[in-house]
Amino acid sequence: MTGWDTGGSRCSESMFARELVLKQRTEILHALCSSGSAELLERVLDLLLAQGELVWEEYQNVQVPGRALYTNARHLLDLVYTKGVDTCEIFLAAFKQVVPERQGADLPSSGCCLDLEKKDESQITATHTLLIDRPSLVSKLQDCIDGALEALTVSGNFTSADCDDVQLPIHTPSQQARRLLDHVRSKGESAAKVVLHYIQQQGSGASRTQEKLTPPKEFQKYQKKLSSSVSAQSCFLSTYGGTSHMSLDEIYTEGQLELAHDCADPHGPLDLEDIIGAAGTVNEEADTVLVSGEAGRGKSILLQRLHLLWARGAALQDFLLLFPFSCRRLNSEQRELSVQELLFQHCCWPDKEQEEIFQFILDHPHLTLFTFDGLDELKQSFSDDHRLCCPTQRAPVHILLFNLMQGSLMKGVWKVVTSRPEAVGPLLRKHLRKEVFLKGFSPSGINCFVKKHHSDPTVAAKVLESLQTNTALLGLCHSPVLCWIVSQCHKELLGCGEGSLQTITDVYMMILQHFLQRRSTLKNAMGSGWLQEHLKTVLHLGQLAFDGIGTTCYIFSCTDLKTCGVTEKDISLGFLIRSKDMSAANSKHYEFLHVTMQCFFAALYIVLSSNTDRATIPKLFELQDMRETSQKGKCFMACLPTTAQQEQTQGTKASAAETTNLQITATFVSGLLSPHHRSLWLYCCPRSVMEKKIKQVSRCLSKGMQKHFKSISQPVAGEKKSMHAMPGFVWLIKCIYEMQESRIAKDAINKLDVDHLKLTYCDIGPVECTALAYVLQHLRNPVGLQLDNNSVGDVGVEQLLPCMHMCSSLYLRNNNITDQGICKLIAKVIQCENFQKIALFNNKLTDACTQHFSLLLKTKQDFLCLRLGNNNITAEGAKQLAEGLKVNHSLQYLGLWGNKIGDEGAEAMARALENSRSLIWFSLVGNGVGNAGACALANIIKNSSSLEELWLTENCITRTGVECLIQALEHNTHVKSIWLRNNDLSSEEEEEMTQRESRLVF
Ligand SMILES: Nc1ncnc2c1ncn2[C@@H]1O[C@H](COP(=O)(O)OP(=O)(O)OP(=O)(O)O)[C@@H](O)[C@H]1O
Ligand SMILES: [Mg+2]
Repeated sequence: MTGWDTGGSRCSESMFARELVLKQRTEILHALCSSGSAELLERVLDLLLAQGELVWEEYQNVQVPGRALYTNARHLLDLVYTKGVDTCEIFLAAFKQVVPERQGADLPSSGCCLDLEKKDESQITATHTLLIDRPSLVSKLQDCIDGALEALTVSGNFTSADCDDVQLPIHTPSQQARRLLDHVRSKGESAAKVVLHYIQQQGSGASRTQEKLTPPKEFQKYQKKLSSSVSAQSCFLSTYGGTSHMSLDEIYTEGQLELAHDCADPHGPLDLEDIIGAAGTVNEEADTVLVSGEAGRGKSILLQRLHLLWARGAALQDFLLLFPFSCRRLNSEQRELSVQELLFQHCCWPDKEQEEIFQFILDHPHLTLFTFDGLDELKQSFSDDHRLCCPTQRAPVHILLFNLMQGSLMKGVWKVVTSRPEAVGPLLRKHLRKEVFLKGFSPSGINCFVKKHHSDPTVAAKVLESLQTNTALLGLCHSPVLCWIVSQCHKELLGCGEGSLQTITDVYMMILQHFLQRRSTLKNAMGSGWLQEHLKTVLHLGQLAFDGIGTTCYIFSCTDLKTCGVTEKDISLGFLIRSKDMSAANSKHYEFLHVTMQCFFAALYIVLSSNTDRATIPKLFELQDMRETSQKGKCFMACLPTTAQQEQTQGTKASAAETTNLQITATFVSGLLSPHHRSLWLYCCPRSVMEKKIKQVSRCLSKGMQKHFKSISQPVAGEKKSMHAMPGFVWLIKCIYEMQESRIAKDAINKLDVDHLKLTYCDIGPVECTALAYVLQHLRNPVGLQLDNNSVGDVGVEQLLPCMHMCSSLYLRNNNITDQGICKLIAKVIQCENFQKIALFNNKLTDACTQHFSLLLKTKQDFLCLRLGNNNITAEGAKQLAEGLKVNHSLQYLGLWGNKIGDEGAEAMARALENSRSLIWFSLVGNGVGNAGACALANIIKNSSSLEELWLTENCITRTGVECLIQALEHNTHVKSIWLRNNDLSSEEEEEMTQRESRLVF
């Protein structure tokens, strides 16, 4: 089946392949699985299937749904090894093809390549084609799953249950494509033909790459020049080690990219190219994609990676040109420019034929991509007042930018914009093709990053070990910028006591100490010596940062530095770095390592300086415009657009984009005034001043919370009193956490009097969970805590444990939680008297967690509601749950929608619930339940005096099963409805059954 480079050393090479698979097992497993996504393993499997190296049964034995990724990969390696030399060689070739070059750099290569050439097609059945073309079919299908499913349904090959099974939202588009192919295979030749025909039809439509284009010669030269300039600009990261550089290849770690939770497309982990792909498109007409994420989540680095991959020809190859822009740098462009000037002057200058090149861009807009990094840093907020559509007309740069983004200028050119979420208002949203959220590192991403960051594996292991002992810190490390600091300061990290780093401020204090002590003349300075020695530097940098925050200025000229007294020596400490490519002038410009670092220095200045206005702290916490408060603010006025300079700014609210940096600064101010750090400052400023500042901050926090509580409306009669977190609520909670004073937390939350606290879609990750638990544990009365549609994850769940005793119900739908997290959660809530309800719809739960729920049900005889819909629970899990259900006498609501419990599971549960006197509502929608299951469930109906609704929609029940249910209903007047839509009944049968029993709903 395979075509090898058959050289003389073939035999020894072959032996080598088998040995490699064995010896490099750990590395191979790591490369395939460490991202946490099954994609690489599945791609290898596709190739092996296509090559005929795995037969179908073997594939199914490897790819067991719901089993841990590593276990599946291990099974594959065992199988490949036992199959012998040839399979090992082919496996290694497939591995090499699939694993990204960098990741697999040190890993085995058999020196051979795969032969995926077409075989003699005349002999091949459609089913066979599905196998041998699997890799390309998966890639084609993932963009048109809906259409393919429709074709299969219309042709009668697929039922709606098949479609649902394929489209389970826990699968990525490519996984869905594979599931579709697997289903089609089980349906036979006719289904296979339908799919192949459908894909062929799709393929005949024009795609961007298929266009036959011969760009002019000068264009090609320009293209080369642009890509080498983009490559040069993007191959290094300047933040590592302060002054040293590190290559992006060496350190880049995949962040978690997600689509909106309510997005119509099924979603799962996305990769970089999906940013441009079809998944998640909400507006086909628009060509601007937004990548949004909080500060330090890696938006700029992600763009940098995209740029590098494009320049190298490794991604986005549908685009001939890519123009990268930084909004931070565009701020300093004072001239009016045309688009042509913007492209050529800011990105790359064509040596000849400018007009011709620009005309080519205009004629083929879809071959060009613009990226705009940090829209939130642009001084002007997005508006669509000033329309412009002529690419040669000059306008202020922000006007060009806004017109490009909304498509009135250069329609058809793709744009990727990054921004913090707060800076994106509804006005811009309506011009977006889609939005992708960058959520920072996954737990395995943290591992991966630390290992890449340290060439010495023992150091990496120590850092990771110490993170495991401090889950609050581990939570912080989901944010790449914090992960970098923690890893960078490994000496300090390992030197300080276990668990002593808890807050974001602690981490930034650690890097402050790290950089300062590196240059300290007092070796091993104890106590506050290191700070005292460098106090002047801290104040100079602090003032620069503070004035910059006040004037939305992130790039500083030498004059700015001088104004604040920043010297060459201060610069050499590493907090400031040289700005890249400031084309305006050749003079040097500087920026802080990261904006969050600027916020930290601004906070240090507010805490330590005696020069700040008394109103600074209240203004900061009220998120007011800070221009007035910055002492030397006037010197930075050059940074502001002229209109803003003329504005009377007193008392005005900061813009949404400025707000986030003020919030971050305020968070640091709270942290710096925590008892843990206070003592340090006493050496630098009078106690009375410090105490005043502490009082001011605690008053601001308490007042801020009160404002939120005042917005709670009175409940409608019969409903629970509930509070939906408004913007800013989570930030205040985080500030309170940073203060680390339980008295303040207690004071702030004590007055909250609600039954239900709703924090859905609030971007709650592990860090926010830590802060929430810290504050909510002081609640007076238990609440229902609704955290649906966030990114809590297992680490976040663990962080929530300290407040579980104040929780009556916990809603964690759509939060990336696995069995591991649930195991810890249940161990805790079993002991919590108030805890009665849990909802975990759409997470990553499997049969491995059901024994814990079973124990919960056995132990808590007042537990009311268990919802586990859209997870991966099979008959085995259902049997485990049944053990608990048998002895529980309180459960009223049980939801298992969209699992796979089948008849066997339904039977086990039915037996357990036969005599239940409490169950009111029970859902087994979309669980592959057939007649055996339905008949078993009929027994619950026969006996139950409590059940009101039974949901069996989207199963495979036929007339026989429904007859059982009808008979059972004859003995039961309590049941209100049984939902049976989308089962295997004809419409005539449905009609007849409804006539006989009106409580059946079809
Ligand atoms: N994918 C990644 N791999 C390795 N390191 C990363 C990655 N993403 C971010 N980092 C680290 O985190 C730091 C901050 O990332 P970045 O500047 O991209 O954040 P950002 O989301 O653009 O923040 P801001 O909103 O403040 O602009 C980087 O300087 C780098 O050290
Ligand atoms: Mg950025």
